[in-house]
Amino acid sequence: MLQDLIERRAGLLGVLTAVVISVGGLVEIVPLYFTGQVTEAAPGVHPYPALELEGRDIYIREGCYNCHSQMIRPLRAETERYGHYSLAGEAVYDHPFQFGSKRTGPDLARVGGRYSDEWHRVHLDNPRDVVPESNMPGFPWLATTKLTGEDSAAKLKALRSVGAPYTPADIAGAKAAVAGHTEQEALIAYLQGLGIASRDW
Ligand code: HEC
Repeated sequence: MLQDLIERRAGLLGVLTAVVISVGGLVEIVPLYFTGQVTEAAPGVHPYPALELEGRDIYIREGCYNCHSQMIRPLRAETERYGHYSLAGEAVYDHPFQFGSKRTGPDLARVGGRYSDEWHRVHLDNPRDVVPESNMPGFPWLATTKLTGEDSAAKLKALRSVGAPYTPADIAGAKAAVAGHTEQEALIAYLQGLGIASRDW
C-alpha cells in the first residue's frame, strides 16, 4: 500500500530518498566532529622531523604517489601483507595526506624499516639492481642534488599553523638538520619513518 503510494509518485520518492540518505550521512559524519580518533595523533605518531619533511616534499614532487598508495585497508589480504590497517590518527600531520589510489607498486604506509638505507639507495638509483623484474623508474639525480635547508624552517612553521606541535627549537634547528644532505638521503629518511609507530601497537 504505502510502497505503491510512494513508488507511483516520483517526486515523493525523490524527497524521501534524499531524507534517508541525509540521515545516513549525518549518522556517519556528525560523530567524526566529536571523536578525537580522527583528529588526534595515533600512539607514537610525531610530526615529521625536518629532514623527513623535505623527503616527503620530494616524494610529492617526483610523483611517487602516482604508483604507490599509503593506505592499508582493513582486509585480511592487506593486513597480512602490509601490517596493521591504516588509522586516521596516523595522517594527522600529513598536509596533504598521501593515501593515493593507484598501486602500480606496493603500498608504502609501513615500509619504514623493511629495508636497509643501502637497499633504498640502490633501489632509488636503479630499481632493477635489486628487483630485476621491477618497472619502477630510477631516480638517480636525487643522489647528486644537495639540499640547502633554506625553506625548511618556513615549512615547519606553516605546518605548526595547522596543528603540528613543532617547538621553537625544532624550527630553529630545521635548516641545520637539512643543509648538506642529498635529496636521496631526505627521501630515504622519510621512507624509513613511514608507519614505524605501528610497530608498538
Ligand atoms: C611507475 C610507477 C612507479 C613510480 C613512479 C614509483 N614507483 Fe616505487 N615501485 C613501483 C613498483 C612496480 C615497485 C615494485 C618493484 C620494486 O620493488 O621495484 C615499487 C617498489 C617500491 C618500493 C619497495 C616497496 C616494497 O615494499 O617492497 C619503494 C620503497 C618504492 N617503490 C619507493 C618509491 C619512491 C620513493 C618513488 C618516488 C621517488 C617511487 N617508488 C616511484 C612503481 C613505481
